[in-house]
Amino acid sequence: MKGYQLLSISLVRKITITSATVIFLASCIEKDRKSVMGSLPDDSTYYQNPADSMVSFPKDWPESFGYGRTVLAEEISAWDIDVMPDGTGLPAGSGTVSEGSIIYKHKCTACHGVTGIEGPFDKLVGREPRNNFPFGKDYKYSSMRTIGNYWPYATTLFDYIRRAMPQNEPGSLTADEVYALSAYLLHLNEIVPSDAVMDLKTLPAIEMPARDRFVMDNRRGGREIR
Ligand code: HEC
Repeated sequence: MKGYQLLSISLVRKITITSATVIFLASCIEKDRKSVMGSLPDDSTYYQNPADSMVSFPKDWPESFGYGRTVLAEEISAWDIDVMPDGTGLPAGSGTVSEGSIIYKHKCTACHGVTGIEGPFDKLVGREPRNNFPFGKDYKYSSMRTIGNYWPYATTLFDYIRRAMPQNEPGSLTADEVYALSAYLLHLNEIVPSDAVMDLKTLPAIEMPARDRFVMDNRRGGREIR
């Protein structure tokens, strides 16, 4: 009984000494932190932007600094050129396969070849391997991907050519020229006949050969993957 009491007294002593040490060390650390923080302004002088907790700026800053001006509607529309898969965003205008072949000859052959397959840059024409679709399986097939065997929507052709091509002068083509080039490239890919006319109604109505190889990405930013 006595031995047990002695043991418990020494245990209590140990615990007391340990706790005192911990409290002492903690107060040293807090003192150190204060001496570092002391050189910074007090937190309350800063307004924390709720949209971005990493950004803070003084509370007394004005609403606006008087720089710049309101963007004009035509300036926004010059940038707002995206075309959706269903054709939303396509402009008025139209173009034929034969018009497209002339524009292609002048503005595209240098980089994509006379028939769209010679390069030196991306191959624009090719239906092979037809019903086979090996692209997702092996990286080596990526160089075979073309409008005819891979692109799921014809409307993307309009969007891409208008915003990015010709690469040395993007944005220089008119809507009619882009419709004509789309018609010509779709024809070379055996998707539309030689008398096809492309406009904001006919282009979205085309069913691309690879359309059903893709599904709409319906993830909402989480981990769900289809
Ligand atoms: C100065 C060279 C150059 C010219 C001229 C040019 N292109 Fe391109 N084009 C490229 C390059 C390089 C790429 C690949 C760009 C990339 O992957 O980022 C490309 C890609 C493309 C693609 C996408 C191919 C794919 O399957 O990914 C299309 C479509 C296209 N060009 C159409 C045209 C058309 C139509 C013209 C003529 C109006 C044209 N290009 C003129 C260099 C050029």
